[in-house]
Amino acid sequence: STVLYNNNFVSREACTVDMEDRGYQFGDGVYEVIRIYSGKMFTSQEHITRLFESAEKIKLDLPFTKEELTKNLSTLVEKNKLHTGTIYLQVTRGASARQHQFPLEGNPVFTAYTKEVPRPENQMNEGVAAIIAEDVRWLRCDIKSLNLLGNLLAKQEAYSQGSFEAILHRDGTVTEGSSSNAFIIKNNQLITHPATNLILNGITRRELLRLCPGIGLDVKEEAFTLDDLLSADEVFIASTTAEITPIVQIDGKDVADRKPGEWTKKLQSVLKASIQ
Ligand code: PDD
Repeated sequence: STVLYNNNFVSREACTVDMEDRGYQFGDGVYEVIRIYSGKMFTSQEHITRLFESAEKIKLDLPFTKEELTKNLSTLVEKNKLHTGTIYLQVTRGASARQHQFPLEGNPVFTAYTKEVPRPENQMNEGVAAIIAEDVRWLRCDIKSLNLLGNLLAKQEAYSQGSFEAILHRDGTVTEGSSSNAFIIKNNQLITHPATNLILNGITRRELLRLCPGIGLDVKEEAFTLDDLLSADEVFIASTTAEITPIVQIDGKDVADRKPGEWTKKLQSVLKASIQ
C-alpha cells in the first residue's frame, strides 16, 4: 500500500522514521483518525481543524496548509482504493539529539496511512461491556496527543476483563472512554461531559449532538457521576471507529435490560443517514 511520508507518496517500506524522532522518544506529537465511507473522508474538515488546534496547543508549526493536507489525504485514499476504513495521520516534532526542550530548528515529521475497517455492525447492534476505571491522565485531554499511556492502561484493563471499553472517572465524575466519548440517557435527556480540558471533544460527539434536536432528544452538556452512570436508562460510547456503540454491561452489571436503548438506536440510525 501507499503511505504519505511528509509530502511524498511512498511505499510502506520506504517510510523509515529516525530513532531519535521526538514522537518515538517523547510522544511529542499529535494525531487524528478519520473515517472513510464509500471512498470519501467523513467530516474531514473537523478532523483537520482539530489537528491544527492540537498542534498549536503543543506549539508545533505544521509545514502544510489545511487545503494541502486535505488534498494529500484524499489522494492517498484514492491511491489505495479504500472504500470503508480509516486514515491514521500523525505529526511529530521530528528528529533531533535527545533533549527535553524543543529543538531550535523545527522539522516536523508527518505520516499517514489507510486501513480497511468495516463498520462495527455486530457491536453496534448487540452492545458491548465496559469497566469503570480511574482517569489518571494529565489535564490536557483536549489535545489529541500521541501520549496515550493513561488511555492504554485503562483499555488494557478493560480487555483483560473481557470488556471492550473503560469508562473513566475523576473522583466519581465520569469524563470519557479510554478511546471514545461517553454518554448517558436519563429521563429522555442525553447527558455528556462538557468539552473542557478533561476530555477530547470528539468529532462523532459533535456530530451526534448536532443531530439530537432533529429527533427531539434534549441535550445536557454537564458532568455526570458514577451513580448517574450506573442508574442510567441507556449508556453508549462514540468515536470515529466505534461510531455509536451501546454499553449494555458495566463492571459485570446489566445496564437497564442489557439491550441497546431506544434513543441510542435512534441516534445510530440518524448518524448512519448522515454518513451516506
Ligand atoms: N479515538 N476520546 C478519546 C480519548 C479518544 O481517543 C477518541 C477517539 C474520542 C472520540 O473522538 P472522535 O469522535 O473524534 O473519533 C474521544 C480515536 C478513534 C483513536 O485514538 O483511535
